[in-house]
Amino acid sequence: MSKERTLSIIKPDGVEKGVIGKVIGRFEEEGLKPVAIRMARLSQAEAEGFYAVHKARPFFKDLVSFMTSGPVVLMVLEGENAVAKNREVMGATDPAKAAPNTLRKLHASNIEKNTVHGSDSADNAKVEIAYFFPETAISAYEWKR
Ligand code: TYD
Repeated sequence: MSKERTLSIIKPDGVEKGVIGKVIGRFEEEGLKPVAIRMARLSQAEAEGFYAVHKARPFFKDLVSFMTSGPVVLMVLEGENAVAKNREVMGATDPAKAAPNTLRKLHASNIEKNTVHGSDSADNAKVEIAYFFPETAISAYEWKR
């Protein structure tokens, strides 16, 4: 089995709603193993850098403001096809369009306050993981489903 890693963030609305445990529990049920976890309050510079690809988009300023509005939970998830699996479990960006029982359908308020982030490709996952976690902070361990 080939393991893959992805970056997951429980956004400020997820922390505020008190669903940290539910979200992590769901990842574990789905075979996505947390191998690094930390809470952080992102600085404006960190949030702007993380979402730099969206810099020209009309929602950028509000997105940065939201992402710095409260603490987040940063995680590295490991599993088979972790990038795609995490995106499937999260659901569509807009909760109104998200499939039933996805994390965003269950917990998100709207397209901005949408509870979770997940890397959208294996290449981006590597960049996003390195943005928040040095390799030494990732606790690789042997796991079985
Ligand atoms: P995007 O990368 O398109 O979605 P996803 O998080 O599903 O990969 O957008 C990044 C984030 O930007 C998204 O999670 C929430 C925010 N956003 C808005 O606030 N308004 C929008 O219209 C879009 C498309 C995104």
